[in-house]
Amino acid sequence: MASRAGTGPQCPFAQEDARKTARIAQRGGLVRDPVRITEFADARAVLRSGEAEQAGFLSDLARRYSRMKQPILFLSGEEHRRQRKATARFFAPKVVTGRYRDLIRAETERLIARLRRNGSAALDALSLDLAVTVAAEIVGLTESDPVAMAGRLETITGGGDRPRWAIMKLVMMMRRQWQVRHFLREDVRPAIAARKAAPRDDVISHLIAEGYNDQEILVECLTYGAAGMITTREFITMAGWRMMEEPALRARFMAADDADRIVLLEEILRVEPVVGMIYRRLPGREGVLGIDVRAANADESVAGACPYAVDPERGIEAKYGHAVMAFGDGEHRCPGAQVAMHETAIFLEALFKVPGLRLERAPDVGWNALITGYELRGALLTCDRAD
Ligand code: HEM
Repeated sequence: MASRAGTGPQCPFAQEDARKTARIAQRGGLVRDPVRITEFADARAVLRSGEAEQAGFLSDLARRYSRMKQPILFLSGEEHRRQRKATARFFAPKVVTGRYRDLIRAETERLIARLRRNGSAALDALSLDLAVTVAAEIVGLTESDPVAMAGRLETITGGGDRPRWAIMKLVMMMRRQWQVRHFLREDVRPAIAARKAAPRDDVISHLIAEGYNDQEILVECLTYGAAGMITTREFITMAGWRMMEEPALRARFMAADDADRIVLLEEILRVEPVVGMIYRRLPGREGVLGIDVRAANADESVAGACPYAVDPERGIEAKYGHAVMAFGDGEHRCPGAQVAMHETAIFLEALFKVPGLRLERAPDVGWNALITGYELRGALLTCDRAD
């Protein structure tokens, strides 16, 4: 357990934040001047408080201007519990290791075959394709072309540099709105129509049965788009990048069994969390609280010494979870965590077996203020071509 040895010479990163995303994370999120919570115990207390209300992902704006039914991420209390209970079956362990595992394997095979045929591919494009296909199955967005849908979701939820000129901001906003309309027309409405004719076992069928209208279903689909598709895509790219650069970590991943592989992936996610801030309001407390996931995950009282180093043998106690706060905590804790980890494990195992695989170009690290997380683009993989 190298990292437990202390902060001496064995732990060269102890004094500095050596994460790949350390510098870019200073850009922050869409909430101005939140009251930052950086210690794990305080973060857990806020997220587990029965009175905390969602204040991120533009939820305040959505509540103020909308009388619509709210997406699961914005609900609280009894109504939230009811929706979580009703959708829990889509994330049950048996479903993850059965129905979704088969889909992940089939999709992985297709993507790897394409990589081998062409001799090169962008890692982040492969990750997006996989993440969108799997989440689309859970949500029920299966009546349109997944690659085109992935492009639309990328424009709607993506970050990129914030324009400095008002006119450019307006153009960007209009582009997003245009894509939201397309997403509704091309992806969401056909899925609703198919499920009205023949309900299935997915989120959209559940929402139709609950009386949600098309606009309300659209907003829930966008929530899953940001919470499930975009996050998983970034994480697969990050885990692939780190292991391509660190052969010892990769060898360890390949030699591990399924359970230990997931522990290793969760450790990478702890160090490089995709969602960097979680926002809440608490009655009686002024302003918006910003749970600093990046700081809480590096809290030595939970992570141990040398918290910025990836160390799968860190031995974080089960009660904290190996990814610490990277999937949130309390009532909104991510229901898709196991799907995301299995997906990443299956895909990367197959990828690392590709003959002659090389990371020709490391990704550029950008920032997405909506999820306060990193965006990795342009990671070029090459390999021996299949005959
Ligand atoms: C590595 C991948 C993922 C990461 C890092 C992640 C992270 C998170 C975090 C931090 C939250 C809590 C947000 C808050 O409390 O404000 C969350 C919630 C959520 N996630 Fe994930 N997520 C991932 C994958 C997925 C997947 C694959 C799905 C489904 C297909 C999913 C669906 C959701 C949903 C529906 C919520 C809202 C739950 C609620 O409000 O009760 N996520 N996620």
